[in-house]
Amino acid sequence: MAGFTPISPEQGAGIIREGGLVAFPTETVYGLGADAFNPRAVARTFQVKERPLFDPLIVHVAEMGDLDALAHGLSHLASRLIEAFWPGPLTLVLPKRDTVPHIVTAGLETVAVRMPAHQVALQLIRLSQRPITGPSANLFGRISPTTARHVHDQLGDRIEGILDGGPCRVGIESTIISLADPAQPEILRAGGVSVEEIRDVIGPVRIPHGRGGPVQAPGMLLNHYSPGTPLRILEGHQKAPSGGCRAGLLAFKSPGNSQGYEAVEVLSREGDLQEAAANLFAALHRLDGAGLDLILAEPVPRRGLGLAIMDRLERASAK
Ligand code: TXA
Ligand code: MG
Repeated sequence: MAGFTPISPEQGAGIIREGGLVAFPTETVYGLGADAFNPRAVARTFQVKERPLFDPLIVHVAEMGDLDALAHGLSHLASRLIEAFWPGPLTLVLPKRDTVPHIVTAGLETVAVRMPAHQVALQLIRLSQRPITGPSANLFGRISPTTARHVHDQLGDRIEGILDGGPCRVGIESTIISLADPAQPEILRAGGVSVEEIRDVIGPVRIPHGRGGPVQAPGMLLNHYSPGTPLRILEGHQKAPSGGCRAGLLAFKSPGNSQGYEAVEVLSREGDLQEAAANLFAALHRLDGAGLDLILAEPVPRRGLGLAIMDRLERASAK
C-alpha cells in the first residue's frame, strides 16, 4: 500500500496509553480507538471524524472485568446475551458507572459496550490495559471501513496509526440492544447479530421502527452511511437510466440483466445474506470511486442480516 505502513498492536497500545488515536480491525468494521477513560483523547475522535458531540460512542472490552468498570447492575437478560454472543457483533446499552466520562456517552446515563470477536482488537485492548472507544473509523455520515485501506483513505493523515487485520468478516456494524430497562429490551440498531438470533435467546424484544428499521440510537440519523454518489433503491423491474447518466448497479445476486450500467457489484452470487453483508461496504466504496452519477441498489430480503443491509441502504439513499 503506497504511503501506508500498518503499526503493531504493541505500538498501538503505546499510542492509546499516551492519549493518541489508533484505528483497529474488528469483525464488523474498523474502529477509531481511544482510551475510554481519557476525555481529551475521546474528544479528539469526535474532531477527527467530524462527528457531532451528541452521538455517543461504543466502548470495546476484552474481559468481563473491563465491563464491570463501565456498567453496573447486569441484569439476567444481559448475562444471557453476553453468554450467547460475546465476543461478537452485539453491543449492549447498560446503566453506566459515574467514572465513565460524559463525552463517551454524550451525557446519557447509559453506556454502550461490546467485546469484539477479533484477535487484533482484543490484543490491543489487553495491551493498552483499558477499555477502548471505537466509533467506525470513517468521516461522520460516510461509508464505514471494512479494510485498513478504507481507513487510510479517509483518516490516514489525521490519526497516529492503523492496525491491519485484513477485511472484516461480518462487514456490517454490531447490533445495538438497549437493556436500560431490563423489562423492555429494545433493538436500537440492526446489525451483525440478527433479530431472530436474539429472540431465540431472550424471547420477545421491541424494535421501534422508523422507515426501514430501528432509529433510536442517537447517532442513527437518516442520511448515514452515505457514499458521495447519490444512491437509490431499485423498485420492481426498473431499467438502467439512460440519457447520459452514468449509473452503477449494486446487485444482491447474479443480475439477470446488467445492460446499461457502467459498473456492477454483486453482493453474493448465491444470494447469501451473510456474504452480502460482508461485501456491502467494500462494494459501495468501489462504486463510489468509479466516477458515477448514480448508484442503483437492489433490495434484499428483510430477514436475518438482510434487515441490517436494508437499514444501511435506506440511510445511504436518504440525502
Ligand atoms: O460494529 C460496531 O459497533 C462498530 C465497531 C468499530 O465496533 N462501531 C460502531 O460505532 O459502529 P459507531 O460510533 O459508528 O456507532 C455507534 C452507535 C451510534 O449510533 C450511537 O448513537 C450508538 O451506537 N450509541 C452509543 N452509545 C449509546 C447509548 N448509550 N445509548 C444509545 N445508543 C448509543
Ligand atoms: Mg459509524
